[in-house]
Amino acid sequence: MSTASARGPRITKAVIPAAGLGTRFLPATKATPKEMLPVVDKPAIQYVIEEAVTAGLSDVLMITGRNKRSLEDHFDRNYELEEVLRRKGDAARLDEVRASSELADIHYVRQGDPKGLGHAVLCAQEHVGGQPFAVLLGDDMVDPRDRLLSRMIEVQQRHGGSVIALMEVDPSQIHLYGSVAAAPSDDDHVVTVSGLVEKPEPADAPSNLAIIGRYILDPGIFEVLRKAEPGRGGEIQLTDALQALAAEPSLGGPVHGVVFRGRRYDTGDRADYLRATVRLACEREDLGPDFRAWLRSYVQQEMP
Ligand code: G1P
Repeated sequence: MSTASARGPRITKAVIPAAGLGTRFLPATKATPKEMLPVVDKPAIQYVIEEAVTAGLSDVLMITGRNKRSLEDHFDRNYELEEVLRRKGDAARLDEVRASSELADIHYVRQGDPKGLGHAVLCAQEHVGGQPFAVLLGDDMVDPRDRLLSRMIEVQQRHGGSVIALMEVDPSQIHLYGSVAAAPSDDDHVVTVSGLVEKPEPADAPSNLAIIGRYILDPGIFEVLRKAEPGRGGEIQLTDALQALAAEPSLGGPVHGVVFRGRRYDTGDRADYLRATVRLACEREDLGPDFRAWLRSYVQQEMP
């Protein structure tokens, strides 16, 4: 079993489940994967892959489903477009177009049957092998300046086992998330997780600490997922597998949680998607100055 000074194998692989139907964003997602919806001028999924790469994870496995061709195309070369931009002498756009194909070493596997997040993660077993790995959910956008993923990797290297990201939410919102029972550890903002429940009713929630979409998982989780029975919504739930690791650490625990207090958006939710877009646009060097000026006058005139 792991000890507080454990230094496990280096974590190099990120798994990104991207097989969801995006029903919260219909009709936009009828023929376009939700991961491809732009936040300012980049698809949401690109920010997530950039976050993984910034944390040192340049081997990325995307778990895709039907209708995901555009994802693969986005992270591939587009010679025709590159040639047009080159002929025009548009070096800046050429760089942008190239950047997404050079970002990471991206692999794909298809989740034939969408049987839930736990099942999606199980589809990564062959690619991941026997090392701890990260899972990043495409709907959650975490500001890279807040360094959540690197912190989680540090915690995993120190404590071993598995690490999840947590955020305090209003108790009325906990039914939208996995919720945990946790106790403080001797590490700042790190808790030891003793129980996890997927999307509980507020009255049954062990706390208002919600799981957000970043995980560092011990490969032992695969064995647990393989045997898992469908949970909430009839789906194989990652939260239930983590509950098994928390209850029996020899399976791939202990489970620690990093309590995050930074900027996070649920880009699968329309209102949060708009907030992310406005905030990122305001912060952009190229668009920001004009956009902020417009926003200020819009707010003053239309919503005094
Ligand atoms: C998933 C997880 C849930 C977690 C959430 C974070 O749910 O099952 O435990 O709190 O992501 O975004 P989903 O939002 O995919 O239904």
